Amino acid sequence: MKTAIFSCAIAIFSTLATALPAAAPVEPAVGNLASRDHVKQVINSSAVVNINEDTPDTALGVSGAGIVSRAGSKHNSRALVKFDFPEGLGRYKCRLAFGNPVEFSGTGEIQVYTIGGANIESATFNQRPFRDQFKGTFRVAGSGEAVVVDGSGLTFDCPAKGAKAYEVVSVGDNNEVFWYAPSAGLRVDVM
Ligand SMILES: *[C@@H]1O[C@H](CO)[C@@H](O)[C@H](O)[C@H]1NC(C)=O
Repeated sequence: MKTAIFSCAIAIFSTLATALPAAAPVEPAVGNLASRDHVKQVINSSAVVNINEDTPDTALGVSGAGIVSRAGSKHNSRALVKFDFPEGLGRYKCRLAFGNPVEFSGTGEIQVYTIGGANIESATFNQRPFRDQFKGTFRVAGSGEAVVVDGSGLTFDCPAKGAKAYEVVSVGDNNEVFWYAPSAGLRVDVM
């Protein structure tokens, strides 16, 4: 009941916001990105495991940082990022977002893919859940929120309770993006 009223209020608010962009003092701004105003909940990553082409059979294990980089078409470092979706989000949309890296260089562009399993803890470059579907491309351009370059697959129906994992990879060469997890990097906004 409460949820229905809330959804209804959101629908009305969306309509008003479209019609009257200047008259929407309904809730305090959550930063300067309009698209973030409707975020109900943020799901931070529950595990990040880096896999590295230079040590392809070594399980680097769960890390406090994600490192995505590539140099000279080699030396790939990719990050597998897991989320534990809680119960009860079935009515909502989830959206992958990326923010607050500590370091970046090169194009700063990274792509996100779904992977074929959430069992990432002992993954290596050679043995890991297979890469599945392309979700989107971000460009890290500063220490705040990354720019969405291709958002085609970033928004999806929130899944039932359970874990899902994604792979973050570098676009192009001589590129690096580094973030501390779980407080930054890839996250899921519930809308
Ligand atoms: C997610 O990370 C942000 C940034 O550090 C933090 O403010 C927030 O409390 C975290 N949320 C949860 C549910 O842990």
